[in-house]
Order: sequence, then structure tokens, then C-alpha cells
Amino acid sequence: MFSPLLSLLLVLLAVFDPVSAIWPAPQSYSKGSSFLYLHQNLDITYNGARVRWSSSLLNHDDFPKEGASAEYMIDRQINYVPGYVPVGSGFNSKEIVTAAVARTLASIFGDKFVPWRLTKRHQLSKFEPDVYKGQNWIKNLQIVQTSQDKPCTFKPLAGEVDESYNFTLSADGDAKLTAVSSTGVLRGLETFAQLFYAHSTGTFWYTPFAPVSIQDSPKFPHRGILLDTARNYMGVNDIKRTIDAMAWNKLNVLHVHVTDSQSWPLEIPSMPEVAREGAYHASQTYTPHDIDSIQRYGIHRGVEVYFEIDMPGHIGSVALSHPELIVAYNEQPYWWWCAEPPCGAFKLNSTAVDDFLEKLFNDLLPRLSPYSAYFHTGGDELNKNDSMLDEGIRSNDSAVLQPLLQKFIDAQHARVRKAGLTPIVWEEIPLEWNVTLGKDTVVQAWLGDESVKSLTGKGYKVIDSNYNYLYVDCGRGQWINMENGEAFQTFYPFGDWCDPYKNWRLIYSHDPIFNLTDEEAKLVIGAEAAVWAETIDPVALDGILWPRASAMGEVLWSGRTDASGHNRSQLEATPRLSEMRERMVARGVNAALVQMTFCTQANSTECSYPL
Ligand SMILES: *[C@@H]1O[C@H](CO)[C@@H](O)[C@H](O)[C@H]1NC(C)=O
Ligand SMILES: *[C@@H]1O[C@H](CO)[C@@H](O)[C@H](O)[C@H]1NC(C)=O
Ligand SMILES: *[C@@H]1O[C@H](CO)[C@@H](O)[C@H](O)[C@H]1NC(C)=O
Ligand SMILES: *[C@@H]1O[C@H](CO)[C@@H](O)[C@H](O)[C@H]1NC(C)=O
Ligand SMILES: *[C@@H]1O[C@H](CO)[C@@H](O)[C@H](O)[C@H]1NC(C)=O
Ligand SMILES: *[C@@H]1O[C@H](CO)[C@@H](O)[C@H](O)[C@H]1NC(C)=O
Ligand SMILES: *[C@@H]1O[C@H](CO)[C@@H](O)[C@H](O)[C@H]1NC(C)=O
Ligand SMILES: *[C@@H]1O[C@H](CO)[C@@H](O)[C@H](O)[C@H]1NC(C)=O
Repeated sequence: MFSPLLSLLLVLLAVFDPVSAIWPAPQSYSKGSSFLYLHQNLDITYNGARVRWSSSLLNHDDFPKEGASAEYMIDRQINYVPGYVPVGSGFNSKEIVTAAVARTLASIFGDKFVPWRLTKRHQLSKFEPDVYKGQNWIKNLQIVQTSQDKPCTFKPLAGEVDESYNFTLSADGDAKLTAVSSTGVLRGLETFAQLFYAHSTGTFWYTPFAPVSIQDSPKFPHRGILLDTARNYMGVNDIKRTIDAMAWNKLNVLHVHVTDSQSWPLEIPSMPEVAREGAYHASQTYTPHDIDSIQRYGIHRGVEVYFEIDMPGHIGSVALSHPELIVAYNEQPYWWWCAEPPCGAFKLNSTAVDDFLEKLFNDLLPRLSPYSAYFHTGGDELNKNDSMLDEGIRSNDSAVLQPLLQKFIDAQHARVRKAGLTPIVWEEIPLEWNVTLGKDTVVQAWLGDESVKSLTGKGYKVIDSNYNYLYVDCGRGQWINMENGEAFQTFYPFGDWCDPYKNWRLIYSHDPIFNLTDEEAKLVIGAEAAVWAETIDPVALDGILWPRASAMGEVLWSGRTDASGHNRSQLEATPRLSEMRERMVARGVNAALVQMTFCTQANSTECSYPL
């Protein structure tokens, strides 16, 4: 036991030390300043039943093989396993929680996260407990789920799953996690992991924050990332690594923009020619098994994976196998026909296109619908000129095109609903084309706060992807080559269309419900940060997404304002975000740096302005 004076000193150290877990901030969080150690043979129960976990599973080189038995999978599962595929049909709460416990403990014990970068220079020993001066241990972790999971827990519409949890850790070592759903248990276990550090002796793990009391729940139900796998292919393991990092940040929806005019990586067994011709290379495709394994991997981490086939524009890659369905494929100059090369749109009044989509959706949608509630039919940036080249239409007049587009959307959305999925579209469909949508449809806004205002004003449910804040590909320069002369002069210094770079502070400042009435705000289900991949491939992915998507994640989970109604502050957030970044790196994700080490080791004012 510590003397009162020592406790006071520790409180002071805690105040002055930059170490300050948890990201995203819980709704309510109180912590003390007593040390508790965590033992690898910790007693863990889930609704009274013992959870098996073996510390001998920490060997990161020993990955399980696909197809191994379910029991082996759960037991062997560690924090990040390339190629890990949960097995078995249906989802079982106990299996999900058991695997999550194994990942949580593997992360605490396996990642060896010693926070020297987050404590004063050469003073880590003042932050760490003295292992020779008595050790108080956490005795048990009791996990209680207060109601049974429902089928929709594993493929929820926004708001259908209760992600809340409460966590307490008493000063004498009783830990208790309570949640309504297994998803809430997953969120609580991640919070638990973030309370611990590895001791520099290498053989102890501790939290300096006991006693702890947390009540937590998300502000927005839809907290997502859009990953474009068409401009550049992202491997199955890159997507799974992204899902892992999303779960650590309590993000819960991955939107895969899986096809576009540049490539079609999605294998459709009943029409093999589409990916065979449309993929960049035979190695750059997703088999049905890949898609299935990505969605299951997500469900095990509380991340719902849904897909978008963008149409009727952004679909040029279909021309490589079915030229008869597409107009304006790779037409030049591209800027008369689309936003970027190669152009290509579906013919809007073609029975052949309708037959193609009937066959495509009959093949694809029944395979997606067991694992997600949504399907995105795209609809952005349709250029009216394209139908000038359609021998069945020969017009770029809105009055001619609008009824055809309405019919096209109605037909596709009927197919989406028939498969048990809810349609999502880009904002141009209702706002630019005045297409009437079903009441269930969710609209994704990208053109700014005014679009969100206008859509919610019309009664639509909205996902905010305001490009001024949430397009993480922006600000990294043009990819179009500028010829010497006029183009060179005009575009110098070659910033891209959505310059500047959206740094984490800017992203953190953005409130998806900015300038909305309460009525309108209720319709904003959340937001997605977008990784458009013209200049991004898996080599750069981690550092572009993280920790900027973490910044958005905190706004979506915790809210733009804190408990007292004030905007969250960069001063308060930076130490936690820096720590989260260190944890992500320790867990194998190459997240970008928040501040140089001088700042992460400094007190709260040394890298602040004004002082
Ligand atoms: C968390 O605690 C609050 C306050 O006691 C309670 O209202 C809520 O139901 C608890 N939630 C869970 C998931 O146990
Ligand atoms: C359509 O093409 C004409 C040239 O024929 C061009 O002037 C116009 O800007 C194009 N419209 C769009 C929306 O790109
Ligand atoms: C669309 O196709 C139908 C059937 O071929 C035809 O009757 C109609 O005129 C076409 N509409 C337009 C706007 O071209
Ligand atoms: C329609 O086409 C005409 C002729 O090419 C062009 O002048 C006009 O700008 C086009 N309209 C739109 C909306 O692109
Ligand atoms: C949609 O409605 C707006 C406002 O009435 C109008 O300005 C616009 O031209 C319409 N767009 C189309 C494609 O009909
Ligand atoms: C809070 O942040 C919003 C943007 O999210 C900004 O418009 C507003 O001015 C800020 N309020 C204060 C008091 O700084
Ligand atoms: C808020 O929305 C109204 C209505 O769309 C708009 O006129 C106003 O400019 C917006 N305010 C800000 C600060 O963006
Ligand atoms: C932070 O460090 C600066 C420079 O060493 C010092 O002047 C200041 O008092 C410190 N502030 C706090 C809050 O510790």
C-alpha cells in the first residue's frame, strides 16, 4: 500500500505526465492513480462461464491455417492474423467474445508497449511502478452480457445494435465489464486493453489508473471508412488489417467501393468474364471466398462490411468484357464525359444493361446479405453528355435523362431490397437529378455541410463524407500529367482538386451535425472517411488512414463536444492520440506520427500555442 504522501506525489505525476489513455474518449471516465498488475493467468468469465485463453499463444510467427478447426482458431487467435478466417456458419456470441478476449490479452502481453515516448525524458521509471515494492494484482475479469444477441446484431442497420458498455476496476483488483450485446463487449475489451502498459523489465504488465469507472456508448451509430479498391487493388490482408485498426478505434462500418471505371476486381462466378477482363491483373481480384472471409472477419470485430457498385457512371471497366453495355468508354477529352479517365457509363435505356444487372445482382447480393444490411448503388458524377453517344438516346437534356435515371434507380433498388438489403446512394441522385427514393434509402453526402443540410431537410437519412474534412486522399498532389506550357502554368504547383491535405486537427474540428436543427441532426446516422485510391495503394494505406481516421472516430464515438458542452480541445486530445498512434504501431499498423518525441515527452504547454 502507498503512503498518502506517495499517493499525492503520484497524482501530481499523473497530472504532469503526458500518458493518458483511452481513444476515443469514453462518455464518462474516472480513474485513480494506483497501480495494478495484470497476470497472464487472469481468471476471466463470460456470463459465468470460464473463458479459455493460453499465454503460450503469443508466438506471432505461428499463424493458424485456414480451415483449421473452430476450437483451434479461437485458441490460436492473436491480435492480427494474416489470412485468419473464422469458420462455421452463423455467428455465436460466445465464439466472438472468446476470440476477442484472446486478441485483447495478446495485445496487452504480446505488443510490449512500453510508453517511454509518452513520459518525460529519462523518467519512465517515475511513471512505472517499482516492481520490488509490492504488487497488487487484478484477480479477475468478469464479463456480463445482459441480453441475448439477435440476428441483426451481426448485420445491423444503423442504431439496431446497442454498443454501450460499463467497466469498473476496483482498487483491489476486481474488473467487471457489462454490456447489452456482444458488440458492446468488444468495445469494452478494447477499452480494457488501452488501460495497460508493458513494464520495461519486460515481465510485468500494469495499469497506473486504478480504480477505474467507465460508462460508455457511441454518439453516432455509423462510424465508417470508405476504401476504394478499384483505382488500386487492396489485398485481403490489407483490408483485414484496416478492419483491425478500425475496431481499435471503435469504428464499425467498412464501405468497400469495389468497382469503378478503372478496374473491376470483383469475381462474379456466373459471369467470369467481367473480372477476367476488368481486373488489372489475374492476381488483383476478390473471389467469393475472399469477400465472405472479409465480411466474417469484420463481424468478429464488430465492423460491418458493405459493398458499392458505383453506377450508372463510374462503370467503364465493364466495357472491357461487355462493350455493348457502356457508352463513352475512355472517351477523350475525358473532361467532357466524366471527372477522370477512363470514362464510361451504363446505357440508361437498355434492356441488355437490365439483363446484365439482373444476373449480376442475383449472383452477388445473396452472398452479401447474410453479413451486412446495406448495399450501395453509387450514383455520383453522372455526366449528362455520355448519353449523347448512346444510339438509343442521343441526348444530354435533363428532361429526357431524368425519367430514365429514375426508372434505372427504381429497378436496381427493387433488386437490392428483394435481397434483404437497404440501398445507399450518393447525394447527386436526389439533389442533382431529383430522383425520388424509397424512405428506407440512405444518402451519402460528399459535397459539404450544405448538402447534409439540404438532404436532412428533405427527410433523408444521411452519411456525411464532406470532402473538405473527410477525404483523406486530398492534398497530396495531381496525378494527371501537365504538359509544358499553358497546362503547366495553370496547374502549378500541381495541387489536386481537393487540396489542401486534411490534417487530423481539421478532421477533428468537423462536426457532421454542424448547423443542423435537432430534427435534421437526428437523420445523420454518422460519417465515413474516404480513401479514394488514385494515388494510394497498400504500401501507403496505413499512414494515410491512421491516425486521421482515429480523429474522426473520436468525434463520431464521443461527440465533437465534451461532457460540459465545449468543443474538444487539441491540447487534451493530442497526448491520447499520440498514445493511440503508438499502440497502433505496436500492433502492426504503420500509423503516421502525431508529434515529434520532444512534444510527446513534454508537458502540456511546451508544444502549444499560445503558451
Ligand atoms: C451502465 O450503468 C448505467 C448507470 O448505472 C446504467 O443505466 C446502464 O444500464 C449500464 N449499462 C450497462 C450496459 O450495463
Ligand atoms: C459536354 O460536352 C461539351 C462539348 O461538346 C462541353 O462543352 C461541356 O462542358 C460538356 N459538359 C459536361 C457536363 O462536361
Ligand atoms: C427507351 O426505350 C424504349 C424502348 O425501346 C423506347 O420506346 C423509348 O423511346 C426510349 N426512350 C428514350 C428517351 O430514348
Ligand atoms: C449538351 O451538348 C451540347 C452540344 O455538345 C453542349 O453544348 C452542352 O454544353 C451540353 N450540355 C451539358 C449539360 O453538358
Ligand atoms: C432538379 O430540380 C431543380 C430544382 O427544381 C432544378 O433546378 C433541376 O434542374 C432539376 N434537375 C433535373 C435533372 O431535372
Ligand atoms: C466549435 O467547433 C465548431 C466546428 O465544429 C466551430 O464552428 C465553433 O466555432 C467552435 N466553437 C467554439 C466556441 O470554438
Ligand atoms: C447554416 O445553414 C443555413 C441554411 O442552409 C445557411 O444559410 C447558413 O449559411 C449556414 N451557416 C453556416 C455558418 O454555414
Ligand atoms: C512546462 O514546461 C515549461 C518549460 O520547462 C515550464 O516553464 C512550465 O511551467 C511547465 N508547465 C507545466 C504545466 O508543467
